Amino acid sequence: MSKLGVNIDHVATLRNARGENHPNILKFADIAINSGADSITVHLREDRRHIKDLDLKKLCKKRIKLNLEMACNNKMLKIALRNVPNYVCIVPEKRKEITTEGGIDLKKNFKNLKKIISRLNKAKIRTSLFIDPSKQNIELSKRIGTKCVELHTGKISILVKKGAKFSNELKRIKHASKLAFENGIEVHAGHGLDFKTTKILRKISYIKEFNIGHFIIGESLESGMPSIIKRFKKIVR
Ligand code: PXP
Repeated sequence: MSKLGVNIDHVATLRNARGENHPNILKFADIAINSGADSITVHLREDRRHIKDLDLKKLCKKRIKLNLEMACNNKMLKIALRNVPNYVCIVPEKRKEITTEGGIDLKKNFKNLKKIISRLNKAKIRTSLFIDPSKQNIELSKRIGTKCVELHTGKISILVKKGAKFSNELKRIKHASKLAFENGIEVHAGHGLDFKTTKILRKISYIKEFNIGHFIIGESLESGMPSIIKRFKKIVR
């Protein structure tokens, strides 16, 4: 059985649009967990465009598995060690990107990553690196000492959505997953996933966790709207 992590960043995006506390992210974390999600993911970005420091503090105090996505720097390391989430996934971060565009450059950040991962491992926080699926990245991940890797599934998700040929990308993900597994690294997958791509990737038995955000929030709005409209119609008629 694979696990499902639910990213609730976009609930915070919606909340921040009005500067008040609706929708409430703590409530959404509970709804997701009570509906069967295994963990909640939040990305504390440098520009705090969605999740804020206080959100993280409150989420870490809840009795839920919390996965913090963060950039690879000392400021974020300090925040992680202060709040002690259950899991940390190191992601690349560019200020102007709309979402995380690709995996982290392990070669360029090798020394820093090794230090940060080692500090997190010592603090008993489960560590992960968000990477593009390649042999070199798995070998570097092993040397860095991470317990898990999350394979970036953005490319295959786009191909599937377009109805284009995705077999080469699927092969890359399969090979990287197998190699990671053989090296004792737990394999996760995430980014751009919808029902269709998740069903395709689910067949790779090495993948133990799927982390999904945007699609879940979008679909939830769609399926939740009819009942809310009906309630309002009763009030206004
Ligand atoms: N996993 C990681 C590491 C991410 O950075 C993101 C996006 O924040 C996701 C999963 C979720 O991607 P999506 O919102 O496209 O489902």
